[in-house]
Amino acid sequence: MIRPTALTSLADEAVARCVRLARLSEEAGGTCRSFLSAPMKDCHRELSEWLTAAGATVGVDAAGNLRALYAGTSSSAPGLLIGSHLDTVPNAGAYDGVLGVVLGVALLQSLDGRRLPFSIEIIGFSDEEGVRFGTPFIGSRALVGRLDDALLSCRDATGTTVREALVAFGLRPAELPRAALSGKVLGYLEFHIEQGPVLESLGRPLGVVEGIAAQIRMQFEFSGRTNHAGTTPMHLRHDAVAGAAEWILAVESMARSQPGSVATVGQVEAKPGAINAISGFARVSLDLRHSSQEICASVAGELARQAEEIAGRRGLRVKRCELLRQNAVKMDAFLIHEIEAAVRKVGCEPHRMVSGAGHDAMILAEKVPSAMIFLRSPGGVSHDPAESVNVDDVTKALECGLHLLQQLAESSEFQGRTCRA
Ligand code: HGY
Ligand code: MN
Ligand code: MN
Repeated sequence: MIRPTALTSLADEAVARCVRLARLSEEAGGTCRSFLSAPMKDCHRELSEWLTAAGATVGVDAAGNLRALYAGTSSSAPGLLIGSHLDTVPNAGAYDGVLGVVLGVALLQSLDGRRLPFSIEIIGFSDEEGVRFGTPFIGSRALVGRLDDALLSCRDATGTTVREALVAFGLRPAELPRAALSGKVLGYLEFHIEQGPVLESLGRPLGVVEGIAAQIRMQFEFSGRTNHAGTTPMHLRHDAVAGAAEWILAVESMARSQPGSVATVGQVEAKPGAINAISGFARVSLDLRHSSQEICASVAGELARQAEEIAGRRGLRVKRCELLRQNAVKMDAFLIHEIEAAVRKVGCEPHRMVSGAGHDAMILAEKVPSAMIFLRSPGGVSHDPAESVNVDDVTKALECGLHLLQQLAESSEFQGRTCRA
């Protein structure tokens, strides 16, 4: 095993690399790197240098995922995938997604040319947040063969389709089938910041994810009648923003009353958007999560019913469209067990937890055994520049990752699994 001082300097370097990549942004002074944006090319370039130096062969697949293969002892060695996403939300922190890829690089560096009985593929997914096209997981869906025509025809705010965006980035949509996983894939491992307060509240540096919550994303459009703010009496109004506002409060009280559910309206758009005009149109988003997909679905149904009731009472019309319905996913029991053993080897007591945040692991889990290791989020903050990590926790995550690779390299059970992607 690598010397502790070397691990600490690799962890320092990993954190510094996350900060460096955070500057590759569409926004001056903040971090925003959406799907196939220009800064994503810069991000690929930086990571490709680091991955090549660590002994991997690097490429970009037809979905814009960075793919780096670190060969095993034999060319036919099956693969262990390690990765996370390289895209960010607007005004993001420096670690959400990126840390999982940079830690993959650090693991390769720690192997220092040593080859394992399985290959390791480090993957930087091109789109997990879904910021540009409103629907997430475009990169990881390509790996499980779920990039269908409907998704490729989604349009961004400029009217560009996913297909056109791929071509503009220099990619060939016709080659998407080659991005799909093939052959023997032993599993997928994702390091990720927790993005919440649990590990910090327990004083734990690392967590073991046993499942990822279901999520439903929708858009609701309330239509009323635009009119003059000064001349229209209150009882004669059909104010779309007022109707949407009543519904947004219904969303909040519904989530408060349903244990274990979280519901968020993150986007609110009003038209015409003039200070002295009653809004005839309001578009709002809904992000709904629960560890049970059945409860998630029933809450979504009830909120849709309440939107209709509020609109009817206010003389409004309401339209809704579903952007995402992602079932809850369980992580692989064997890998969870192995991760817990590795966490103990670094002197930590493992803590099993459900992830409220969505991750590429929930897509990969459709095809290959998947697992996640969480790192503590100081202050429980994420999707914000205040997002951070403790270097000591990154060191522990790296050490845990090396123990895990060693355990898997010695495990005939792991290598004998017949998971054909
Ligand atoms: O929204 C999420 O759960 C993740 O950050 N994409
Ligand atoms: Mn995120
Ligand atoms: Mn993430």
